[in-house]
Amino acid sequence: MQKGLLTILAITLLAGTSLLNTVQNSEQSSFLEDEIMKIYQNWQREHGKRYSQFENSHRFGIFKKNYAYIQEHQKRVEAGLETYEIGLNSFADLSVEEFEAKYLKLKSSSQREQRNQVYKKQGKQVPVEVDLRKDGVVSEVKNQGSCGSCWAFSAVAALETALRQSGVQNVELSEQELVDCAVLDEFESEGCDGGEMYDGFAYASKYGIAIRSEYPYAAVDQQCQAKKTKTRYQFSGFVDVESLNPNAYVEAAAEHALSVGINASGINFQLYRKGIYNAKCDSRKEAINHGVTNVGYAPEYYLIKNSWGISWGEQGYIRFARINDKEGQCGVQQEVNYPIYKLFENQSTIVE
Ligand SMILES: *[C@@H]1O[C@H](CO)[C@@H](O)[C@H](O)[C@H]1NC(C)=O
Ligand SMILES: *[C@@H]1O[C@H](CO)[C@@H](O)[C@H](O)[C@H]1NC(C)=O
Repeated sequence: MQKGLLTILAITLLAGTSLLNTVQNSEQSSFLEDEIMKIYQNWQREHGKRYSQFENSHRFGIFKKNYAYIQEHQKRVEAGLETYEIGLNSFADLSVEEFEAKYLKLKSSSQREQRNQVYKKQGKQVPVEVDLRKDGVVSEVKNQGSCGSCWAFSAVAALETALRQSGVQNVELSEQELVDCAVLDEFESEGCDGGEMYDGFAYASKYGIAIRSEYPYAAVDQQCQAKKTKTRYQFSGFVDVESLNPNAYVEAAAEHALSVGINASGINFQLYRKGIYNAKCDSRKEAINHGVTNVGYAPEYYLIKNSWGISWGEQGYIRFARINDKEGQCGVQQEVNYPIYKLFENQSTIVE
């Protein structure tokens, strides 16, 4: 048995070169195939992707399809038919279904009672353009990794901006604490299996939230370790921005980082590279499956911070087209919240 196998292997190795040539000559498309394989291998190197041989051929199959789709899209970009580009980012070897199952885990909040403070449109004068990054109140773009914790990242991004706006600079808060702890008792979130931003806000308002360095991100569900942390920030609640109202949205966005839910399904969002994103999207509340953070706007777009690292999109951001309907692009105006950080005069900044 063993011997026979070895013999076959040896013959195959010897014949390898000529066999390959025969295959190449017999298939016209193999030149293209080789080119794409080279692109795939470069891409793997760039993104540190290593697979078993079996997995690799599966991944290459999907990559090829995505690559062809990107080429088609690029033709339309060059013809002036698209306002945004897509490209080979770190998700380029995932199918839409795989991607959705792995990353899009925001739970719908349709069950929640509306007993919160609501921000309604007030007809305020707002600046034509806002970019909170320019005020130095937006923290670095993070990467949630292979954990459905978008909701925790969206909440923490808004919490961090609220902190910075009240003068507490350069503090980063713990997404992991929300993943581990905003899942018990009164909270409905499920850690890496998904959750809701308002659970994060409610948690940080009831128990405070630790700084990131004391409770670092692990991208897996763990036991709650909040009791071990020392440096915690106490928030004082959050506001629901009136749903389905672009004016209320922009008024709130002029002053706050907003946690928003969107429908992030589809290959265009997955592979988004730059430009103003206006892909057709189901914007119903039931379609919302990803939590992100709005940190500015301009007449043509909303500026959205994602949590998929800086290699996705425009250094981790996407510009969402401002479209003329009440749901907004991909439902961005459906579920909108921002947290409040208020420092009482009798309170020190850090609550221990
Ligand atoms: C998001 O929108 C796309 C495009 O309309 C649609 O195919 C997809 O089903 C929507 N996602 C969800 C979760 O409903
Ligand atoms: C601090 O001030 C707030 C608001 O006036 C008050 O509700 C709270 O009880 C005070 N806390 C302490 C420790 O004095």
